[in-house]
Amino acid sequence: MKIVVLHGSPRKGMNSDTLAEHLLRGLTEQGAHEVTHFYTNEMEIRPCQGCLGCATSPGHNCVVEDEMQQIYRAYREADLIVWATPMYWGYMTAQLKAVQDRMEALAWEGFEGKTFAVIITYRHHYQSTVGMFERIAPHFKIDLHTVICCTMDRETGKDLPISACVEELEQAYQLGRKLGKQ
Ligand SMILES: Cc1cc2nc3c(=O)[nH]c(=O)nc-3n(C[C@H](O)[C@H](O)[C@H](O)COP(=O)(O)O)c2cc1C
Repeated sequence: MKIVVLHGSPRKGMNSDTLAEHLLRGLTEQGAHEVTHFYTNEMEIRPCQGCLGCATSPGHNCVVEDEMQQIYRAYREADLIVWATPMYWGYMTAQLKAVQDRMEALAWEGFEGKTFAVIITYRHHYQSTVGMFERIAPHFKIDLHTVICCTMDRETGKDLPISACVEELEQAYQLGRKLGKQ
């Protein structure tokens, strides 16, 4: 299986990345997979310009030549896309949202028929982002799976280390195992 992991957090190796790691561990236990990581915070990706150049360009390619072109290529070939992001002010991070907006080019051709594993870490709410994926999944024939993890102790209001989220780490791992068997 070809897997693309889109890392939305600027905090490399922290909460959402750790859950993604567990998912990948479950996956790789089921066999060898080709995994490509994109740390969106480290990439030069311009926001979508709304030019709709992708509507008419050959192959519906985006006309903006930047590092998003790497993601287009990998996405088109991938079976599974892992979206790993914290919630920032009610949505996925700006880094990942920029990538999502640029996927307008794929919406013409190539976006559909994938499996998505959406991993979200949050303190208060995640519904807006999960709701978006649930809304688009039937239209694009996406097989959607989600792992949602609250990283705040509700009693004290303090952040928890991700290692305290035992159930969600296990859930991510088990989802990886399940997807790896498909
Ligand atoms: C700038 C900023 C904005 C945030 N906004 C939200 C939010 O709107 N809703 C929420 O539930 N958590 C919010 N959080 C909390 C993070 O989503 C949470 O701490 C998450 O576990 C961080 O994941 P990471 O370690 O992968 O970056 C915010 C954190 C930061 C730094």
